[in-house]
Amino acid sequence: MRRVAILLLLALAGCKNMVQQPRYDEYEASPLYPARMAMQHPPEGTVAQDLPQQIAAAQRPPLTRALVERGRERFGIYCTPCHAYDGSGDGVVPARGFPHPPDLRSARLRQAPLSHVYDVITNGYGVMYSYADRVAPPDRWAIAAYTRVLQQAQPESQP
Ligand code: HEC
Repeated sequence: MRRVAILLLLALAGCKNMVQQPRYDEYEASPLYPARMAMQHPPEGTVAQDLPQQIAAAQRPPLTRALVERGRERFGIYCTPCHAYDGSGDGVVPARGFPHPPDLRSARLRQAPLSHVYDVITNGYGVMYSYADRVAPPDRWAIAAYTRVLQQAQPESQP
């Protein structure tokens, strides 16, 4: 019995060590480095991993009929399962229990810039996951443009 108690004590002591591990927070001072800061500058020549994404986001295609038609097609493939063809959010996936998306025709989303839709597709939003690996950057702008068509072709949804 005493052996068990000693083992338990040792095991618990181990747990405590795991909980209290020394680490630095951002912007904390550190005597370890010449600049005396925990945070270090990235090495010379470092390229941000999301640089290609940033460049792609800045290359917004011109708003043409072809772009909007492409957007309608892509919206139909990737977004309608949840957002529905009219943007109401009454898609088949929410009908089966997934959280109901907001109505894309709401006053708030009418006022949001197209870059908001682009960002939502790129990074996801709340429970909606990212579509960055399925929808290429020019198509994100195309879909964003098409959401404007959905908004302008229909009355504003009431909250
Ligand atoms: C699997 C279901 C699903 C799919 C597919 C989906 N969404 Fe969503 N979307 C959601 C849900 C749920 C929310 C609300 C998320 C939250 O607030 O947590 C949302 C939110 C949004 C919003 C609103 C963000 C805000 O400011 O409130 C936009 C815009 C949007 N989605 C665009 C799209 C576009 C464009 C596509 C297609 C590329 C798409 N979604 C595909 C479920 C989905």
